[in-house]
Amino acid sequence: MALRPALILLNLLAIMVIAGIVAYRVLSIRRNPDRNQPQNLTPFAQDPTLETTRLERVLRWALICSAVLAVGLPIYWLLEPARQKAETTGFDDRAIERGAVLFANPAMKAYDPTKSLQCANCHGVDGGGGGASFVLPATQTGTGRPVQVTWQAPALNTVLSRLTPDQVTQVITFGRPGTPMAPWGIDGGGPKGVQAISDLVAYLHSIQLGDQGANAQIDKAINSKTGLKAAASQDVTTSRDNLAAAQAALAAATSAVGKATATTAIVAAQQALTNSQNWEDTLSNASQGQLLFDVNCARCHTKGWSYFDPTKSSIPLPGLAGGGAFGPSLRGGTVLGQFPGETGVGQQIAWVTNPVTKQPDGTEILAIGPNKGYGTRGISSGRMPHFGSLLTAEQIKAIVEYERGL
Ligand code: HEC
Ligand code: HEC
Repeated sequence: MALRPALILLNLLAIMVIAGIVAYRVLSIRRNPDRNQPQNLTPFAQDPTLETTRLERVLRWALICSAVLAVGLPIYWLLEPARQKAETTGFDDRAIERGAVLFANPAMKAYDPTKSLQCANCHGVDGGGGGASFVLPATQTGTGRPVQVTWQAPALNTVLSRLTPDQVTQVITFGRPGTPMAPWGIDGGGPKGVQAISDLVAYLHSIQLGDQGANAQIDKAINSKTGLKAAASQDVTTSRDNLAAAQAALAAATSAVGKATATTAIVAAQQALTNSQNWEDTLSNASQGQLLFDVNCARCHTKGWSYFDPTKSSIPLPGLAGGGAFGPSLRGGTVLGQFPGETGVGQQIAWVTNPVTKQPDGTEILAIGPNKGYGTRGISSGRMPHFGSLLTAEQIKAIVEYERGL
């Protein structure tokens, strides 16, 4: 804002003028050390002057000052509501600005090396999602060795279409243990106070695509050039190329050790090609409900979903679909047990939809939230997203049908 520097300049000028006057007075006493006469001995103006010119001068000033007040006060009064409103939006704007600095990485204009937490490194500079390099501990790889994976970081420019601001605050504060998402709040063992986390949420608010925009991203995530299906056929191509390269390496190998290494590489490349082809087949036979589950739910309900890569045989394949990860297993009749019979379908749809009501103060309350019951004997921890704003009723129905068949 240009007003702020102008006001600062004005204050500096005023300070300089006052300092100048003081300096002048001090110096003039030094230069002219004769004492002035005391004021009570100084003769003052006589009655004729006091009652005419002097009185008029004082009255003129009184009139001018009253006029300033008479005009100034109503103007102040008229502008006050707008000023108060601007103060509130200014408050929000500054929160967003601070949040933008916290979110930024060096590729962004808001980046400040002393303040930025670089959320953008993993979640994308536009908050559109990205990946995080992560070392999968040996206990989870099945080979007894840790493996380097790229863990998909979800889009945050759609996050408020599925999580309430409270839920987002919770995730940022406590992170997601066992994933690259670290705790950033002091309560979770991170570096930042409540104010910074709320600034981040304010910034996330400012970059949301809106419910419709967020819904459009889902079709893209399945069908676009960068979507699930295209990625699966790309994986097959990559695996074929890798196999060809491994075969070429074997042909070129001369030493016994070189040949043995190349042969092992071929076995791995063949396995990767099979995995990639299987994955492509799975997707091409998938129902709409399954595809929607894959892009919306699998990262929490299917083990290994966020980092599997069929082109690399060292990275474990995902566990059984809906077999449970951060969210519980939905397989083997657990869902049918939780939401039994025909009424269960409606209950399950209500659970996944979980509508939010917005309070006058802007907070959002989930119909089924922390410690509220759902289904037959479910008690929610309040961590499952709600999909009523993001997905259409038809899409939710398709997902629920798919889940009930798992
Ligand atoms: C090292 C990479 C990384 C950094 C840095 C990072 N995140 Fe995350 N974040 C992730 C990953 C990965 C997930 C998903 C974890 C999972 O699979 O459940 C995630 C999840 C989230 C979620 C939950 C989204 C959802 O739909 O479940 C929010 C909100 C979030 N991050 C916000 C932030 C903010 C704000 C920052 C910066 C202070 C940040 N993240 C920094 C990797 C990162
Ligand atoms: C951010 C992670 C996350 C995502 C994404 C997610 N869930 Fe969940 N889900 C959970 C958690 C956590 C629970 C456990 C309930 C709780 O804590 O409130 C759960 C519970 C459930 C249950 C109840 C299971 C039972 O037997 O009690 C169903 C059904 C379910 N989720 C379906 C879905 C569907 C459908 C989607 C996608 C449209 C989805 N979930 C996406 C985390 C997630």
